Amino acid sequence: MAEAQARQRGEHAEDVSAERLAESGLRFEVDGEIATITLDRPDKRNAQTFATWSALAAIGDNLPEQVRVVVVKGEGPSFSAGIDLRMFTPEGVPGQGSFSSVARSGDTDFEHNIRKAQAGFLWLRRPEIVSIAAVHGHAIGAGFQLALSCDLRIVADDVKFCMKEPALGLVPDLTGTKPLVELVGLAKAVDICLTARMVHAEEAMRIGLAEQVVARDDLDRAVRDKAAELLSTNRDAAAATKRLLQGARARTLEEQSIAEGLEQAVRIKTLFGG
Ligand code: ACO
Repeated sequence: MAEAQARQRGEHAEDVSAERLAESGLRFEVDGEIATITLDRPDKRNAQTFATWSALAAIGDNLPEQVRVVVVKGEGPSFSAGIDLRMFTPEGVPGQGSFSSVARSGDTDFEHNIRKAQAGFLWLRRPEIVSIAAVHGHAIGAGFQLALSCDLRIVADDVKFCMKEPALGLVPDLTGTKPLVELVGLAKAVDICLTARMVHAEEAMRIGLAEQVVARDDLDRAVRDKAAELLSTNRDAAAATKRLLQGARARTLEEQSIAEGLEQAVRIKTLFGG
């Protein structure tokens, strides 16, 4: 109870202090029901490290309960150039090791570390929120996957998505493969990933990777407008509807109809139950 109240008040500042986030290459701001996460290492094209991912997870763990819309954006010329390439060097990122050290660790440690990194992405799909990636410039590798981890993508006309991992001998493992296939279909996902080619704005819009393409200067405004539209519906009905939509693919029509009825029963009782 005390924990839930603390979350509601947006406490636990020690976990997501501006200082810790800055060290991890992030900024985090809450304005009423809208939270904004900004990738903030523009001089390194917002390259991401393990610290970035655990800070993202900490933001998710401490998200104030009033928040309904989470915007993820990037500072500077790129949304994100993906994983910090120092991870591929023997020296790695100071204090965070490298893939050489990861390769020497046991399989259990390795899987644990990946799960920890993925936690920074997975919470963005929670039913209680709608996440919007505001993407401009390059969104490469982990940057592309971060955009894919959001519910919606509003992109600037200079956007360049690229799933670079297979070109580097890796697989995309930051939760991006499932949303990519669901958005664009298996054949197009194979094409995009196994060629590691750039997907530009026009194609992103055409194949369902982006909901909206706007001029670079209009990106912030377009995201603000979408957030306002999303906030215009009932909070609990929106969460219940998102739960239904998220479960739809895995259910039969009959099962989905039952799920709709169960969610509606709760809504009706809440609205008209006296
Ligand atoms: N990791 C660490 N540093 C990076 C990264 C990165 N992923 N990307 C860019 N930087 C640094 C550059 O080293 C450079 O630093 P410096 O000024 O100290 O020399 C600075 O950011 C600017 O980079 P430029 O290449 O000069 O910027 P430009 O705008 O010309 O190009 C681009 C941007 C296309 C994103 C290019 O930087 C690039 O290709 N980066 C690497 C992308 C990549 O392979 N990412 C890994 C994907 S796989 C994965 O994420 C799991």
